[in-house]
Parts: sequence; C-alpha cells; structure tokens
Amino acid sequence: MEIKTPVSAALSPEQISAIQDVVSRQKAVKGGVLPALHEVQSICGNWLPLEALKLISEGMDIPYAYLYGVMSFYTMYSPTPRGKFIVRMCESPPCHILGADNLLDVLTGELGIKVGDTTTDGLFTLEHTACLGVCEVSPAMQINEVVFGRLTPERIKNIIADYRAGKVVDYRTLPRTTNPLSDYVASGDELVLLANVDQIDPLSLDAYLERGGYEGLKKALAMSQEEVVNTVKDSGLRGRGGAGFPTGLKWSFTRPNPTVPKYIVCNADEGEPGTIKDRYIMEGDPHRVLEGMAIAGYAVGANYGYIYVRGEYYLCMYRLNKAIEAAEAQGLLGDNIQGTGFSFHIKVQTGGGSYVCGEETALIESIEGKRGNPRVKPPFPGVVGVWGQPTIVNNVESLANVPGIVVNGSEWYKSKGTADAAGTKIFQVVGQVKNPGIVEANCGMTVRELIDKYGGGVKDGRQFKTCQTGGSSFGFFKDEHLDTPMEYMAMAKANGALGSGTMLVMDDTTCVVDVVRSILYFFQHESCGFCLPCRRGTRVLYELISKVATGQGTAADLDRMISIAQVMMDASNCALGMSPLFFVTTTIERFRDEYDAHLAGNCPLGVCKADSHSH
Ligand code: FES
Repeated sequence: MEIKTPVSAALSPEQISAIQDVVSRQKAVKGGVLPALHEVQSICGNWLPLEALKLISEGMDIPYAYLYGVMSFYTMYSPTPRGKFIVRMCESPPCHILGADNLLDVLTGELGIKVGDTTTDGLFTLEHTACLGVCEVSPAMQINEVVFGRLTPERIKNIIADYRAGKVVDYRTLPRTTNPLSDYVASGDELVLLANVDQIDPLSLDAYLERGGYEGLKKALAMSQEEVVNTVKDSGLRGRGGAGFPTGLKWSFTRPNPTVPKYIVCNADEGEPGTIKDRYIMEGDPHRVLEGMAIAGYAVGANYGYIYVRGEYYLCMYRLNKAIEAAEAQGLLGDNIQGTGFSFHIKVQTGGGSYVCGEETALIESIEGKRGNPRVKPPFPGVVGVWGQPTIVNNVESLANVPGIVVNGSEWYKSKGTADAAGTKIFQVVGQVKNPGIVEANCGMTVRELIDKYGGGVKDGRQFKTCQTGGSSFGFFKDEHLDTPMEYMAMAKANGALGSGTMLVMDDTTCVVDVVRSILYFFQHESCGFCLPCRRGTRVLYELISKVATGQGTAADLDRMISIAQVMMDASNCALGMSPLFFVTTTIERFRDEYDAHLAGNCPLGVCKADSHSH
C-alpha cells in the first residue's frame, strides 16, 4: 500500500464550522470515527487535509497518530488532494478477464493522467479499485457514487464527456436495482429472497407490508426466543457469506448468554470478487434485511443491530437508511415494537474500502472505529463481539431468509434444496458467459446448469476452459467437474466451494496463469498485514507467480508456491491468508501444461506481460 503524507490546506470558515458540527455529533456516538472521516472528507472535497484531521483528532479526543493509523488503513480516505470526481476503475479478476486493462488505457488517454493523479482542472482523480460488486456488468468503473458497467472505449469516452458537461447522475433517483432482474433468466423455483426485488418500490414500506412484510417479525414476537432459534436451526439454513456455518446453531450459542447488551451485526461488506447477491437484496428489498435482523435480535436477546455496508454501495445505504426511518415511524423497529416490550434499533455503518473487513472480527473492529485487523479467535463474536459484548454476525442473504422461515416453518424451507444445502440460494454467474447475472434457485443445481441455462453458456461461441468456484478464494474446475451439484459437501469434494454461490467462467482465450496472477495481486493488496504468514506469504506468492508468468520461473517456484500456500493455510490468523491454497493447488494440478509453457518462456495465449495494469 502506498504511504501518503497528509497535505496541508487552508480551510474556509464554513468548512471549519461544518467539521466542528460533525465532530461534536460523532464524538457522542460509539464508533463515530469512520463516519466522521467520511463526512469530513466530503466537506473538504473528497480528501482529508492535515488541518481537518487535526480538528477531528482534537475534537474527538483521538491521538493524531491513532487517527492517521485508522484513516490510512482504508482506501476510500485520502490525505492528499483529489478531484471533484473520483473515477475508480475495477481491477479484480472478473473485470480483468473482460479487458479492464485495455479500458484503463482508454481512460488514462481520455483523462490525460495516470492512475493516482488528478486532472489539472481539478475535475477527475483516477484510481484503481478492487471489485465494485457489479461483476454482472464487468468491466466496470465507479464515478463518485455511480457505477458504470459494460464498459467499452466508446462508452468511457461518452461518460467522461457527460461529466465534463455537468451531466451527473443522481444515484438516489434510480427506480429499481442497479441492473434489473428482468435482464436474467428466472429459475421457476419459488422465490424466497428476490420475491419483491424489482417488483415493488424499495422505498415503500406499504408495498412491503402488502406482500406479507413484517409478518415474520410479528409471528416471532408471539413465540418464545427458544422456539424462534429452534425453527431457524431446524430449517437447515447455513451462513450465506461463504463459510456455511449453521445459522440457528450460531444463535443457540448466544441466546442463553446472560451478558447484555447483545448485538446483531449484518455483514453487508460484500467484497468477494464475483459476488453481487447481497446488493440486489439491499437495493431491491431493504425491509427484508431489517426484518431478518429484528427477528434475530429477538431470538438471541439483542436490542441493537449494525448493518456494515461496504463503502461503495451508496444506493444500498441510502435505501436501508430510508427503510429504517419508515419502519421506526410505524413502530416496526425502535422501542417497544408493536407494544410487545421488545426494542430493536438498527444503525447503518459505512465501510472504508477494505476487503478484509468482510471477515467478521475485522468488521467488528471497523465498527468500533479501528483498523480492520481480524481478531485472534477464540473468543468468538458470539461471546466477545462488538464493544466486548455477545454478538451475532450474519450475512445479508442469511438474514433475508429468516422472515420466510419463521412465517412458513422449517419444513417448508427444508423441502427446498438438498439435505446438505437446504433452501434457496442466489447463484451468480460472471465472466465469459453470454448472460452474466444472478438467479435464485433451490440449492443443488449443477455448475453446468448455472453456466449453460442461466449464464447462457460461454459467449461468442468459444470453448469453456475453467471456472473459479465460490469467489476468488476457492478452487478452479474443469469440464469433468461441471456436473457437481452446488451444495457444500459435493463442491468441497471436487476441491471447489459453494462459497458465496458465484461462478467465474473463463473461456479458451483466458490464460489461467494470468488470472492466478490477478487474484494474487488482489490478495497481497488486501492483506491487512496483521499476521506474518499472510502479510509476507501473499507478497511472495505474487512475486513468484509474476516470475512464472513472465517466463522467468522454474518448476521449483511452483513447488514453493504450493508449500508457502500450505504454510499460510496452517498458520494464518484469518481466512484471507488461508485462501490461496485452493486456487494455487487446483490450477497447478489441473492446468500444469499451461504453467509449464510459461516456465519454458511462452504464454500460449500471449496474454501475460510484465507491465499489466492490474498487476
Ligand atoms: Fe469488477 Fe466485480 S465489479 S470484478
């Protein structure tokens, strides 16, 4: 990560007064540091001058060195000047394989600056970014709050021309989800998670109520806490963030704990490249997430909840905040819900641009206003979580399942999917397919079905080569694995993973070594540096794959990559450091010919180059 020395700038009296307002308001809030940094950055024009940081430090009684440490951890804050519009070009694998590198050349040409610089008129700053969470329309970029996908050279030129001409899109006026579901093939299975998405106005509580909204909460409040926990436990619902831990079991550990207050944290830090599902739920049906959280709160005895949303998901945050206001106004959230004596308050917390904050304890640290370093476990959050209190951390999709389970019962949910993976799941298919997107279907469809039926098959008549399963952290499949059902055990047995339910498809024009290099670039960039195996291991793996990709590697380097990845698996503090083993070993085993060609100095597809932007 680049170390930036804060730059001095004179603040206007209006800016000083606005910053002082923010500081006095956020000082009174536990965990107000990140929100204060976001607000002050916006007051100062997309960056944080030294003078502004000092005002926060003094006003909030936070030592400057500590504040700098927090600010510098997150990529969305800048202590150096930036333009009015921050253009963030995605460099993660799904965008990379669809030509993000070449489009970045177009962008740099159009703006006349290189990555990290600002145009002389002060309008644009160009930055690289990790996955923006819109991989169904890769390659993609974001300008301030607005995302632009399906980029082509022409489209980039038009977008920049529009911004230069003052034609700026207001993201808050978008009618439905960023990319409507009607663009994709539906499964025909009963929808649990996406039933309302693109069907109702997400800002209308009445519309949600008309379709049975908050019936799950009302029913839960008439049950005992234990009954609610057991219903979710019996349903077989497993965590949809990637780890697959049984949701009801997690709740059952925390419910009997007499320590209060307890917290529910909704993990909405969707940052795994290729993963776009939580965004659809939050943009299209925000009340479903709130209802799931409130039921979880009642079940375990928590009265407070946080939704930690990744910083780039502006539309999600806007709609969630509106939904909270509406639900509170109608007594469906807040104090004494529906006169039952149960109170539940929810706050949206904004991330600052850090993949590792998707790890539950890093996320908790971030809520508390710290750098997002994962904690050493045990103790687990269920015992010691936010502010040292018992905390349940559940993914958006997991919580969005809960209202339906409570209303219809555990047998109803279990009747969908398979014995190993109950219920429905939002599957995502991205990369080199005709129709990238999402589909909600009962768990257990095969990988082939996802790619061919819902993704429309490999695009442009090319041949299927491979797919990375479950997100950037997992193994690669070949043709012979395509009939694997998408459930936990079967995917793991084939050295893949259900993970977040995404599938990154690659055709025969894709160089596997280049893709692995792109993934390792991502991991070394996102490692928080807290533990040595991950901090050093991700860096060395990236150096080795770069050697191999550019024809300077040896067979011993491949052996070293496997052994380093194994040490990282055994010794890293969190899942980030454990991840490379899966894709390093599966690609070296399953695409050895391609690695060998690179060792002999030849990238068969002519893709690997020393100066790739995304590396
Ligand atoms: Fe580019 Fe997800 S938006 S990889």
